[in-house]
Amino acid sequence: MIHRSVLRDRCVALLTPSIEKSADPIVVDATLGMGGHSEALLESFANLRIVGLDRDKEALAIASHRLERWSDRIDVVHAVYDQIPEVLSELGINGVDGILFDLGVSSLQLDELERGFSYAHSAPLDMRMDKSAGLTAADVLETYEKSQLIRILKVYGEEKFANRIAENIIKARAVGGLKSTTDLAELVKASIPAPARRIGGNPAKRTFQAIRIEVNQELEILQRALPKALNAIKVGGRVVVMSFQSLEDRIVKEVFQEASESKSPRELPIEIESLKAKFELVFRGSEKASAKEIEENSRAQSVRLRAIERVAS
Ligand SMILES: C[S@@+](CC[C@H](N)C(=O)[O-])C[C@H]1O[C@@H](n2cnc3c(N)ncnc32)[C@H](O)[C@@H]1O
Repeated sequence: MIHRSVLRDRCVALLTPSIEKSADPIVVDATLGMGGHSEALLESFANLRIVGLDRDKEALAIASHRLERWSDRIDVVHAVYDQIPEVLSELGINGVDGILFDLGVSSLQLDELERGFSYAHSAPLDMRMDKSAGLTAADVLETYEKSQLIRILKVYGEEKFANRIAENIIKARAVGGLKSTTDLAELVKASIPAPARRIGGNPAKRTFQAIRIEVNQELEILQRALPKALNAIKVGGRVVVMSFQSLEDRIVKEVFQEASESKSPRELPIEIESLKAKFELVFRGSEKASAKEIEENSRAQSVRLRAIERVAS
């Protein structure tokens, strides 16, 4: 299947001023995936070095192969992106000119049906982006208390019928538990009243999103990672983030807002220099993909892009 990186040219354009300002520019691709964005950046700037991270070893292998031509200008690292400071310090790098986050799962992960991300195919309940670590979806479904399941389904899945689904997950344990993605998808369908089943696409979508977010600790990691990313940026450097669901985008928006607000008391006649904001939003609000890109790549449908620049040390 053809994989197209979302907002590829826009991301390159947003990082260009920061890369061009620097004599020996470095960009962190925090979500290397199959290396589409990194490829575009390496192609565009002959002096650019990239540090590419991913928690998925399979993605790293594919990206390394794809970016082989530039192997002297890219470090490929198996890491979770809240480890950016540790990765940079290990590489002896003090500050970087850009950091790109293309959040969520990759099309590679969705296409590999046996990884259990898809409710449309029968597979083991795994859903880990890093197959070498952490709890699987089956572990969550088998061991979490009802109240924890309800919270996850409500908060991460915005699921109205969280109580009924959680109740049925607990009941299923008594009869041998859920064995596959299809078992879970069927349980969700059976938990939802018939009229609600007819609207809003597959009813399992929200539950699968919720369990995946919990399994990969996606929101906690993002919340920890963004301040660390801002800290690693040099003056003139930018952080660019693409989110694909509202919970992620809310975190990005809040962290960027906080970083770009002056802490100087408003009632003072002049702004206190040391309390001025160290960051400025590159544009207000978030950007979406064009209708043309959405037509060519359905993943672009839900993207929200935000960018911030460091203006003071
Ligand atoms: C949408 S894909 C990136 C696609 C990439 N930009 C491209 O053009 O090919 C997201 C990638 O981020 C990785 N990822 C998600 N959360 C991560 C985290 N917390 N730390 C490191 N990698 C993560 C996933 O494993 C996946 O490979």
